[in-house]
Amino acid sequence: MAAAAKKSQVRHPLFARIYPKINAFAEAHGALEHRQELLAGATGQIMEVGAGTGANFPHYPEQVDQVIAVEPEPRLRQLAEQAAAKAPVPVEIRAGRAEDLPLPDASVDGAVLSLVLCSLPDVRRALSEVARVLRPGGALYFYEHVRSGSPRFARKQRLLNPVWSLLAGGCQLTRDSQQAIVDAGFAIERVRHFDFLVNGRTTPSSPCIIGVARKTGPALPGTSSGAAHGDQAL
Ligand SMILES: C[S@@+](CC[C@H](N)C(=O)[O-])C[C@H]1O[C@@H](n2cnc3c(N)ncnc32)[C@H](O)[C@@H]1O
Repeated sequence: MAAAAKKSQVRHPLFARIYPKINAFAEAHGALEHRQELLAGATGQIMEVGAGTGANFPHYPEQVDQVIAVEPEPRLRQLAEQAAAKAPVPVEIRAGRAEDLPLPDASVDGAVLSLVLCSLPDVRRALSEVARVLRPGGALYFYEHVRSGSPRFARKQRLLNPVWSLLAGGCQLTRDSQQAIVDAGFAIERVRHFDFLVNGRTTPSSPCIIGVARKTGPALPGTSSGAAHGDQAL
């Protein structure tokens, strides 16, 4: 495989096999409605980062002209291709990583991050890339599970995190993704904090946020330095 193509790949074969089932379970318990809420205001040219199986595609409203969906995991990308063929708006799938997005500067009206900031090796660099690709004033639509605001629950998340992340394709329970978005120079327009309960019970990934942020100021320069931004110090 050519070096450039390899660079745009992320391989999580086990996670890629089980994620469609995890997602179907989550959607049966409320994630479907969360996806609708996430995308209700999207318009124009949209970039979706880490699109996975394309679970968001059915929920793009008709005001969206086109979605360019970036996904680095080959198996998930294949499933996204199938979902794109049935989507209500045109969707183009591209191989690529959030830290090095395959789109030009200021080329989209909106960016979608859905359950993806938890999984990125370098959140700071990825958000800097999102800011680069968004036009000034463009919208960042986000839906993420996050570190709990309750110190007790956050401690449980921290203890569980090593095993969780091993089983869930690098997903971290300990990230403050709202703060990471603010630190990257976005202004939060609205955000809803809630607990995603399954049959009335909390899970380690229950604390969630859904919202919209605007690109206002310049993004922080991207770095490829070690720790992912927004992680809680261990
Ligand atoms: C939990 S899944 C969420 C998928 C989808 N966004 C959704 O809402 O169902 C996390 C996604 O992030 C992708 N991902 C992991 N590392 C990435 C990277 N460096 N750049 C872009 N996407 C990445 C995974 O391949 C996977 O599709």
